[in-house]
Amino acid sequence: MAKQEDLFKNVISHAKEYGYIFASSEIYDGLSAVYDYGQNGAELKKNIREYWWKSMVQLHQEIVGIDAAILMHPTTWKASGHVDAFNDPLIDNKDSKKRYRADVLVEDHAEKILQKAQKEIEKARKRFGEAFDEEQFVNTNDRVQRYLSERKEILERLGRSLTNEDLKDVKALIEELDIADPETGSRNWTDVRQFNLMFGTKLGASSETASNLYLRPETAQGIFVNFSNVQKTGRMKIPFGIAQTGKAFRNEIVARQFIFRMREFEQMEMQYFVRPGEELKWYEHWKEVRQKWHFSLGLGEENYRFHDHDKLAHYANAATDIEFSFPFGFKELEGIHSRTDFDLKAHEEFSGRKLRFYDPELKENYVPYVIETSIGLDRMFLAVLSASLKEEELKDGSSRTVLKLPAILAPVKAAVLPLVKKDGLPELAQEIIEDLKWDFNVQYDEKDAIGRRYRRQDASGTPLCITVDHDSLEDRTVTVRYRDSMEQKRIPIAEISKLISEETDFKHWMKK
Ligand code: GAP
Repeated sequence: MAKQEDLFKNVISHAKEYGYIFASSEIYDGLSAVYDYGQNGAELKKNIREYWWKSMVQLHQEIVGIDAAILMHPTTWKASGHVDAFNDPLIDNKDSKKRYRADVLVEDHAEKILQKAQKEIEKARKRFGEAFDEEQFVNTNDRVQRYLSERKEILERLGRSLTNEDLKDVKALIEELDIADPETGSRNWTDVRQFNLMFGTKLGASSETASNLYLRPETAQGIFVNFSNVQKTGRMKIPFGIAQTGKAFRNEIVARQFIFRMREFEQMEMQYFVRPGEELKWYEHWKEVRQKWHFSLGLGEENYRFHDHDKLAHYANAATDIEFSFPFGFKELEGIHSRTDFDLKAHEEFSGRKLRFYDPELKENYVPYVIETSIGLDRMFLAVLSASLKEEELKDGSSRTVLKLPAILAPVKAAVLPLVKKDGLPELAQEIIEDLKWDFNVQYDEKDAIGRRYRRQDASGTPLCITVDHDSLEDRTVTVRYRDSMEQKRIPIAEISKLISEETDFKHWMKK
């Protein structure tokens, strides 16, 4: 555990040192759970957003993208259920005065039980070696079975109590499980209460005439209220999707873990409109597509798992999270929800407008059902950053810090480095930059010895270094050094652009 905490601390300090993430308004000591993206962070974030957008919109003929406003008519949030039901169950510790999400306390407890089962499995794997049959062991080992059913019972009871809004039972569960304040060990808890997460704001100049608005807590509603606009103007036929990326705001009470849970964050969401009755087929389809998207980044398939919801949100008939192995454990990265026709129906009811589709094959008018894929851009950023940061021992006994970002996401694709700061090498390096800059984000660096410059680029995540030396002046070739393997090869200047494309552009990456 200590190791994991160290890793997380390293990620946070590395993010600052290399211009990825700063605390918001840091000169005033920051603002809790709000962060700014620095020069490298803004590029990485933009590249993740673009990777998502191209995969979801550009590669799918039946999906289009929109950009709806953050401020929406306040009735939107009545219709969507957010005014009445967008709450977190909170509990305070009377001794430490710390506030927690009651459901998270119980889920963390259940996770520890799962870890115990996993420990037993790993012990047995070591004992039996090659002959180990994990499935058989899990199904027949009493202790593992006990852990698994204990965990299942806890999560099912939590799901039931939350669905029934039985907050007394959530507290009873915390007490029965003897859950203590993770920071102080105290078990002196208050009752569990609901807290609405939406940020309110005002529209208008004078306090008498101003009307109350909310900052959107999810981008999805901007898609639902535009369903007919897009369907009609785009002549979309079911099944079709509407995608959008943008800011969302939640007054998270327990906001910690760096950019994992923020008060202002960005979502990348897609609503896929389907025939009623076909939603579970599409739900399975999108689970698979989204899993493939994650795997395509090469962060390690073992770092992902699905977690099906026991407690369904007020709008869903099936839901799962794609969880990622963050430095503080497996946590939700993306949600995939079968949202039924809840939202469109509610907006029909509250607006008085029809939000339907005439299906020419069925010769029928209906309110479509919706599958939603919803991923936090900042959370994806944290997943990428934490899985990429490595300390490596090298063959010569030295070590290096390297940020092995997927090359397609790297802020700077190549650094161009003159071996020395004289003899016409800087001029040739600048000439190369002038040619490359139209297609790629490239960086010039002439300060310090070449070895130190390589290390600096390794640590900030640049996949390729192009070194210009005296031979380059004669034969117009350069040395290319790969960040991950540290291998070097000589190529003609005229081929640099092709090589960077092959390593970092969307088409080559996806085809690989
Ligand atoms: N439209 C559905 C929706 O908003 P959600 O599970 O509440 O569902 C979707 O949020 C995703 O948004 C999450 O999986 C997570 O990646 C991201 N997210 C939610 N709250 C967040 C927060 N406070 N900070 C950062 N990301 C957040």
